[in-house]
Formats: sequence, C-alpha cells, structure tokens
Amino acid sequence: MKKSKRLDLIPPYLFVKIEEKKDELIKKGIDVIDFGIGDPDLPTPPHIIKKMREVLDDQVSANYPTSKGEFVFRKAVSKWYQKRFGVELNPRDEVCCLIGSKEGLAHLPFAFVDPGDITLVPDPSYPVYKICTTLAGGVPYFLPLVESNKFLPDLESIPADILKKAKILFINYPNNPTGAVADKAALTKYVEFAKKHDLLLVSDLAYSEMGYDGYKPTSVLEIEGAKDVCIEFHSLSKTYNMTGWRIGMAVGNKEAVQALATIKSNVDSGAFKAIQLAAIEALSGPQDCVEQNNKIFAERRNVLIDGLNSLDWKLEKPKATFYMWVPVPKKETSASFTEKLLDKCGILVVPGSGYGTAGEGYIRMAITLPKERIALAIERMKKENIRYS
Ligand SMILES: Cc1ncc(COP(=O)(O)O)c(C=O)c1O
Repeated sequence: MKKSKRLDLIPPYLFVKIEEKKDELIKKGIDVIDFGIGDPDLPTPPHIIKKMREVLDDQVSANYPTSKGEFVFRKAVSKWYQKRFGVELNPRDEVCCLIGSKEGLAHLPFAFVDPGDITLVPDPSYPVYKICTTLAGGVPYFLPLVESNKFLPDLESIPADILKKAKILFINYPNNPTGAVADKAALTKYVEFAKKHDLLLVSDLAYSEMGYDGYKPTSVLEIEGAKDVCIEFHSLSKTYNMTGWRIGMAVGNKEAVQALATIKSNVDSGAFKAIQLAAIEALSGPQDCVEQNNKIFAERRNVLIDGLNSLDWKLEKPKATFYMWVPVPKKETSASFTEKLLDKCGILVVPGSGYGTAGEGYIRMAITLPKERIALAIERMKKENIRYS
C-alpha cells in the first residue's frame, strides 16, 4: 500500500499524544488533574436537548440535509448576528452551516490556496490553519504572537515577496491558545491590510461568547467594509457546551462563503438536520445559560490565576476564553515543565510549543474542570515547591 506524500506532512494531532499519556497515567492509578483539551465539562443547556428530542421524531431529520445548511438555520444565524453584533447577513448567500467550525476552517484553503501560495498564520495558533494550508499545497508563513505586542501579529514585519504570494490572513480573537483579545482598532488594521494586499481575512470567532468582567468580544464584521474581504467562522461548541454535536457556521463575504460551500457540496452532505434545528433553539432561545457558563469560567480563572500568582507568577486575568497561557519558570522549556507537572503533581497541561515555535516558553491550561480540582492542582504545586521563580 502506497500512501500519499501529503500524509507525511501531517504531524500527529497534538491531543492524540496527550490523551495517550493521560490514559497511561490513569492506568497506573494516578489521579490526573486535566487542564488539557478545551472541551467544556459543563452540560448542554436542557432546552436545547429537549428540542433535539422533539425533532428526532420527525422523519424529515432522517433525510439528506443540504450541505450549505437548512434555510431556517441560516436565517437563525443571520438574526443572531444582527442581535449580537449589529451585523446584517443575507441568509441566502452570506451564511453557510458547518459540521463544526473546524470542518469549515479545514476546507477553506481548498477553495483559495493553489500549490505554492502562502497563507499568513499566527504562531502559536489552532493547528488547523497550518495543517490544512499544507494539505491544500500551500505554505504557511508564521506571524509570531508575542507578549510585548499583546499577542497580536506584527503585519509590518511581513516581507514584500511573501505578501505578493499570500492569499489568506488568519486571525483568531479571542485567541486560542493565548487568551488574548483584539480591540476594534486592531481589527480595523487587519481589514485595511487585507484590502491593501488583496487577502482573504479569515476571522476565527469560536470564543466570541466567552468574555468576562463585562467584556464582550467584537466580530470583525462590525468593522466598516469588512464584508468586502472577510469570512468569519463561528461555532456553537463552546458557547452552548456542544462540542460533540458538531455545528458551526461561516459567514460574511458572499464570494468566500459560496466558494467554501462549493467545496463542501462535493465533500460532505451537511450537518444532521435535527442538530441544525436544535441549534436554532440554541441561537434563538434564552441566553442566560451563556451568562451562567461565563460566571463559572470566570470563577475558575480567578482560582487558577490567583493560585499561580501565589506561587510567584505575575499573571493578569484574561478577559476571554477558557485558556490560561502561562510562562514556564526560567531553566524550563514548555516540554520539560509539562513533564514536571505531570510526573510530580499529576497535572496535565499542553506544552505551548505544540501550537507553534513562538509558543515555546509557555504552557496552556484549559479551565474545563471544577474549581475544586483547580485548587487541588495549586495545592499539589505548592507541596512540590513548584514556583515561577
Ligand atoms: C480557535 C479554534 N477555532 C476553532 C475550533 C473548532 O471548534 P469546533 O469545530 O468545535 O467548532 C477550536 C476548537 O477548539 C478552536 O480552539
């Protein structure tokens, strides 16, 4: 059997290795405190599950959906965007349903990237931007996200010859893995840059509803003229604790949304109709579940950041996402500190280097576990005298 050369370009998916390591430790009887994958431990709100139960009885759900999504779903997305961001979207051609935003992000390069084309990819970042650029024959050019620039890309540093070949600029605020946010001024800069250099601006807004202390993240589409150059990816995964349901949406520039829909119509047959109908309930129903979630995550964030700061870290509390981007002590690397936490304390974190070269020197901690477990992790670190300095 001869596999494609393309397959050799794919490193093992980061979390596959981490899950293997975790299973190994659990088998040894270790009580692992898991800050690994960003998968909410909180339940899907009951009114969404109730809707799902109801629609499952309808035979209509058993038939093929349209790959772009049912019109009623696209209309609900359009209404939600108008209510949440004040952004008008035509449900006919500016909204496409996705089988989770990962699916859409992964397919997008096949609609825009020819062999040898460049995409501008933040480093560190969600691995799909890089891998799927490569699978489409493109070449990622990495934009380091560093603390001194508030984890925003420095667009001025991109060489002219790179820009000439670039087709896409990926951005993701609120950001995985750094937890950073971008204000309207920064987003305006990205829109202007994309226009100036004829780029498709891909905004990954998976964490838009996870804001704390009154902070409400912005959609790039709120920026005037953004729709000329921007496609935005969104997901119900984190907002409504629905990661396993696989439902999301791509919205914005008509040409980009339709190009993605063309790829999708040849690859998948859309999201299960029952899930789309339940997702309408999520988007249009009561939103207090989102507030409640955020309250829980803000509390967990406080326990973790205050705890780490009591161990000599000097961390600010992130305004959004459930990711804490934590610098490792001097003399440690991302990998060595990850290993130390696991071996000495049974604490599972993700090495920052797994998200790109510029992630070296950090670990990512996802607060998808109860605050009591977070407090226990801090206790174990204290006991082992693991401090920042
Ligand atoms: C930045 C970012 N984008 C997109 C996704 C994909 O989410 P989903 O496919 O569940 O919508 C994730 C998941 O962790 C993510 O962190």
